[in-house]
Amino acid sequence: MTEKKNAAIKAADYIEDNMTVGLGTGSTAYYVIERVGELVKHGLNIKAVATSLSTSNIASGFNIPLVSIDEVERIDFAIDGVDEIDGGFNAIKGGGGALFREKMVATLADRVIWIMDSSKVVDAIGTFPLPVEILTYGYNHILRKLELLSLSPVLRLKSDGPFLTDNHNYIVDLHIGKGFDIKYVSEQLKAIPGVLETGLFLNMCDRIIVGIKDEVKVIE
Ligand code: 5RP
Repeated sequence: MTEKKNAAIKAADYIEDNMTVGLGTGSTAYYVIERVGELVKHGLNIKAVATSLSTSNIASGFNIPLVSIDEVERIDFAIDGVDEIDGGFNAIKGGGGALFREKMVATLADRVIWIMDSSKVVDAIGTFPLPVEILTYGYNHILRKLELLSLSPVLRLKSDGPFLTDNHNYIVDLHIGKGFDIKYVSEQLKAIPGVLETGLFLNMCDRIIVGIKDEVKVIE
């Protein structure tokens, strides 16, 4: 089994009957969705809120009952992956472009678990380009402002044009490099009109579960 799968299966152990679960996005979260599908098949009454259309489709394939974020008041557990995380639980997320919904789901959850393979744990975040969701309206001006802040923005593209999020916005990846002032950059980004959300998830989780070779490490 992979490190990602081991971490995901361990995280799913925390799920109990009658819980509302936030399902993350990405290849690590996939294994949680698969496991939740098995729990549902075995009769557990679980409701799930998906963090992306892709997760929603995968969860439907496993017959997991889905509810929209507006149908719930709170979520018991949100389980999601990360792109990079430091020792203070400061993480970069959004490699899959789902950061906006991932952050909303995380902020509604009583407990948040992040799951990952060992490559995601770093001494300082920033090597992984920081994704930021921006409005399509005026995006060239937003890019220019990011340039002026020396944040090395690159508009995320796919083969036929800019990558569009599930919310119909663009993603800009900031190639900042590690060692940046996290709080300062976060505040600078939030102050730009048209920046909708950033992939900086600062100390937003209760525990992380890391797959390390054949073992899993739970850190709280
Ligand atoms: C998607 C995310 C993912 O959680 C993150 O990119 C990790 O992905 P993976 O588990 O495939 O490595 O933030 O927006």
